[in-house]
Amino acid sequence: MNIEIKTAAEIILEPQLIEEIFDFDKLYFNWPWTKQNWLDFFRTRTESFIVLINVEDTLSGFCLIENNDDISYLHKICVAKNAEGHGHGQALMTSALSQLDDLKVNALSLEVDVSNFRAISFYEKLGFKQLGRRKKFYSDGSDAFVYELSLTS
Ligand SMILES: CC(C)(COP(=O)(O)OP(=O)(O)OC[C@H]1O[C@@H](n2cnc3c(N)ncnc32)[C@H](O)[C@@H]1OP(=O)(O)O)[C@@H](O)C(=O)NCCC(=O)NCCS
Repeated sequence: MNIEIKTAAEIILEPQLIEEIFDFDKLYFNWPWTKQNWLDFFRTRTESFIVLINVEDTLSGFCLIENNDDISYLHKICVAKNAEGHGHGQALMTSALSQLDDLKVNALSLEVDVSNFRAISFYEKLGFKQLGRRKKFYSDGSDAFVYELSLTS
C-alpha cells in the first residue's frame, strides 16, 4: 500500500493520472464529476490537493481537499468497493489531516448525504461534529448534513 499527496500544480502535469482519477470516480462515486469538472477544478483551485492510495500499483482510493487559510473543504473521499473496511479511508484522512496541520488550517468541513450511514459513521469516528442540515443539497433532492472537524489544539 502506497499513499501520496499531489498538489493541483503537480496533478495538472499528469494527464494520465487525471484520467485514472476520473475513471475511478465514475466507477465508485455516487455523484461523479465530468472530465471537464476535474480539469477545471485543478486549474482553478490552485490551493487544492489530492491524497491517493495505491495497492499493487492500482488506484484504490482518493481524498480531494480544497485548502483555504481558515476552513478547508473536503470535496470527495472514496475507497474502491473491494477495498472498503480495511482502513484505507482512515489512512487517506490521516494523511490529509497531517498536511492541513502543516498548513496551519483551523478546520475541515464537508457535506454528506443524510442517508449515507457508512460515511457518517466514518466521519464521526474521526471526530467530525454535525453542524446542520442543508435541504435538497444533492441533485436528486436529498438533504446533506454539514460536518466540521476542528484542527486547532
Ligand atoms: C466512507 C469510506 C470512505 C470509508 O472508507 P473505508 O476504507 O471503508 O473506512 P475504514 O476501513 O478506514 O474505516 C474507518 C472507520 O469508519 C467507520 N466505518 C467504516 N465502514 C463502516 C461501516 N460499514 N459501518 C459503520 N462504520 C463504518 C468505522 O468507525 C471504521 O473504524 P473501525 O474499523 O475501527 O470500526 C468508504 O466507505 C467509501 O468510499 N464510501 C463510498 C464513497 C462515499 O460515500 N464517500 C463519502 C461521501 S461524503
